[in-house]
Amino acid sequence: MLTMTGSEIPSDTRAEAIDMRDLAAYPTDRRIVGARCEEGGVIVDWDDGRQSRFHAVWLRDNCACSACRHPQAMERQFLLIDAPERITIQEAQTTLGGHLLVRFGAERPGDAPHVSRFDAGWLRHHCYSDWARAERAWHPRSWNALGNSPGTALIPTVEYKAVMETDAGLAEWLTAMRDWGVVLLRNAPAEPGEGLRIAGRVGPVRPTNFGTSYDVVSMPNPNASAYTPIGLEPHTDLANWRWPPDFQLLFCVANEAEGGGSILVDGFSAAEELRRCDPEAFDLLSTQPIDFRFQDETCDIRHRAPAIELDHAGAFKSIRFNNWLRAALDLPEAKVEPTYRALRTLWGYLRDPRFQLRPRLAAGEMLAFDNARVLHGREPFDPNTGRRHLQGCYLDRDLVLSRLRLLERRRMSEGEPKSGPR
Ligand SMILES: [Fe+2]
Repeated sequence: MLTMTGSEIPSDTRAEAIDMRDLAAYPTDRRIVGARCEEGGVIVDWDDGRQSRFHAVWLRDNCACSACRHPQAMERQFLLIDAPERITIQEAQTTLGGHLLVRFGAERPGDAPHVSRFDAGWLRHHCYSDWARAERAWHPRSWNALGNSPGTALIPTVEYKAVMETDAGLAEWLTAMRDWGVVLLRNAPAEPGEGLRIAGRVGPVRPTNFGTSYDVVSMPNPNASAYTPIGLEPHTDLANWRWPPDFQLLFCVANEAEGGGSILVDGFSAAEELRRCDPEAFDLLSTQPIDFRFQDETCDIRHRAPAIELDHAGAFKSIRFNNWLRAALDLPEAKVEPTYRALRTLWGYLRDPRFQLRPRLAAGEMLAFDNARVLHGREPFDPNTGRRHLQGCYLDRDLVLSRLRLLERRRMSEGEPKSGPR
């Protein structure tokens, strides 16, 4: 990126990308075919007929020249607070390379105008017109037990060797975690600690009051229901934390006991059914915080949050549901009975076979699932009939998505086509 201080904008004959001080690649076949100043910003016409509008302040704020972005840290140096409240543009034009060049109005009398150049691929990717934001929007792939499921295997499945040894295998595993919220990994060595080694392909695991990893076995003096042989209703883990871990990895070392099958529910699918069939219960559970708590000799962790969290547009952000971590309801009197009724209704969908998958983990297999979305449970098992030993750990979404972006960055630097992790 150059900052031109002269009054003349030079013609740009370079076709290569402009340095936007961004390590991600934004390849595009699209070219800018027209640019003009209009209504306090720039209207950009693309060669596929699309049109983008960028406000002057947005363009000025995103200038990537060495004065506006730190050349090494790549962080913003431009100080919005010190810029004129009304930023003007003198001229906008398309370069011969199909990029955008903007000359702003002088910020103070006598100042030279600031000139910014914007790479077409970067600009297309960051366009915030309605059509572009709709194209970029990510939607989870919903599933249930009736066929609206990821392929014939119902649960996306990846091979241990591919995940551990190849970028493509790792990307496939993480993409399934992100989009389907659940993925089965097969054919790993059935060794204790293997789940943590697999998690290491992403980054540091998220520690909790149960440690960096935990063993799901039947114990004589359990401090949690998971450490008993009883069945576990579908639940999300650590609902009592302000920010529960995002992804859970559950690795099977041994599963020889009778019973002990796993239960999985796409909480977004079940909650959508609640929204459709019982909007009153849905409204209550998505707006009224309820209390969750875990206590043992070493901690007492509490949080209050709605069972269903929505974003500003009503899309699902998270499900928080765990019967043994639910604390005494502390609500206005009039809401107590309706809340119990709503919880029972949601729970009914979580128990409904229409929404449940019931895989049985074998030694050397691992389930990874989105703990903010997919509820997991377990059929009861008889510890006298054989060994059952799972090991669990957690990963946060930031690191999962970051790893995916880095894999994509590496793929792009090797010249492969973009698949589009968000
Ligand atoms: Fe659990």
